[in-house]
Amino acid sequence: MFFFLSFTTRLQAWNHDFFWESMKPGGGGKPSGDLLDLIERDFGSFERFIEEFKAAAATQFGSGWAWLAYKANRLDVENAVNPWPSEKDKELVIVKSPNAVNPLVWDYFPLLTIDVWEHAYYLDFQNRRPDYISVFMEKLVSWETVNTRLEKAKARAAEREMEEERRRKEEEEGKPTNEEEDDDDLEMYVDNDNDDSEAE
Ligand SMILES: [Fe+2]
Repeated sequence: MFFFLSFTTRLQAWNHDFFWESMKPGGGGKPSGDLLDLIERDFGSFERFIEEFKAAAATQFGSGWAWLAYKANRLDVENAVNPWPSEKDKELVIVKSPNAVNPLVWDYFPLLTIDVWEHAYYLDFQNRRPDYISVFMEKLVSWETVNTRLEKAKARAAEREMEEERRRKEEEEGKPTNEEEDDDDLEMYVDNDNDDSEAE
């Protein structure tokens, strides 16, 4: 018998780990620092953010997930155009995803998620999904974890931007993307050739 760990299964496992790590006993309350600043900038206020997040989680039709994510590019999924990022792309967004999909597929950095598959809440809340979402937001969310994820996402986005900028400059100057590596390859080829002739 063969067992296949499908892509969907792996995504679901990743989503669940991410979900469990989004919580802690005695969580909830209000975030602080950078995270709070960005929430206030991008949603108007923390209260507005909570409302929007709850609404997204409550209205994800059927099984799926609601997410807070850091969006650091203008990736357009429909026509696969990915222009250079700009300051205004660096924002927090609330997104919903069906089934096992997560925001990594849109090239967003996930910061927080809630599982709104029925199995996640049915035992405790039956069909009262909004109650489950409220408890999650008010008593369980670990804002420290979300803050740490935001810092990592920003660092990763900055790194990527520098890398893209470097590549763009090289293209503009008409250089091969990695000149040194090309030289190494050539030397290796010549060396190998010499070795062959010595062996004969
Ligand atoms: Fe689940």
